[in-house]
Amino acid sequence: MSIGIFDSGIGGLTVFKAILKDFPDADIFYLGDTARVPYGNKSKETIIRYSLECATFLKKNFDINLLIVACNTASSYAVETLKNYLNIPVIDVINPGVEYALQVSKTKKIGVIGTQATIRSGSYQKLLQKNGAKVYSKPCPLFVPLVEEGRIKGQITRLIIKDYLQEIIDEGIDTLILGCTHYPLLKEEILNLYPYLNIVDSTNTINNYIKKFSVSLQNNSNQKIFITDEAPSFYTLKNLLLPEIPLEKVELSQICTL
Ligand code: DGL
Repeated sequence: MSIGIFDSGIGGLTVFKAILKDFPDADIFYLGDTARVPYGNKSKETIIRYSLECATFLKKNFDINLLIVACNTASSYAVETLKNYLNIPVIDVINPGVEYALQVSKTKKIGVIGTQATIRSGSYQKLLQKNGAKVYSKPCPLFVPLVEEGRIKGQITRLIIKDYLQEIIDEGIDTLILGCTHYPLLKEEILNLYPYLNIVDSTNTINNYIKKFSVSLQNNSNQKIFITDEAPSFYTLKNLLLPEIPLEKVELSQICTL
């Protein structure tokens, strides 16, 4: 049994690390589509096509039995298509984040931030509202290049965080969902500005979702990370989070098969 994980780039490594904590022996194959990041400003059709291509690469090459869509943008648009196409269980990162936010929020006034495409899709808003929460959402497109450039701390970063978030903070939210896999890297600075916030993302609860599928994950720790293009920031984050996992570049032509 093996798990496939994909993201548009580096952010999904935080999800990979969270999964390893509970499933250290699992066979896990990660694809970061660094050649085509960001997905968050693309059309629905393009996001679905890219997602299908990433998932197909993992299925064909590693016969994965479980797919984790470690990208909020892809999770917002492509999950149903991926399920139909691959015929294996597919776990998104929206449901785990929402579940945890509902657990920790006392006021049920919940903020959600993400890429333009994620916020436009309404994926978080619909799920939260269905569960009785009042939702305040905001796209934060500059957060992705900040993280990609390694600017996760400092004055400029704090200014941009404040510029985006103050408006939803003023609505009285007590919980903020980081609806983009890059954003957990800005958590420290967000908390410096707003220390009373509950900050949540999918990594808090994603392993419960994996356990629900009761797949056998006792394997040989055969784990590998693939990227579709050189990305200096990817190496930095990878070495920080998962230094022991081997990394390989894969040609985009091997991915673009649809
Ligand atoms: N990984 C994407 C997400 O979680 C963020 C980066 C992008 O725009 O591709 O939405």
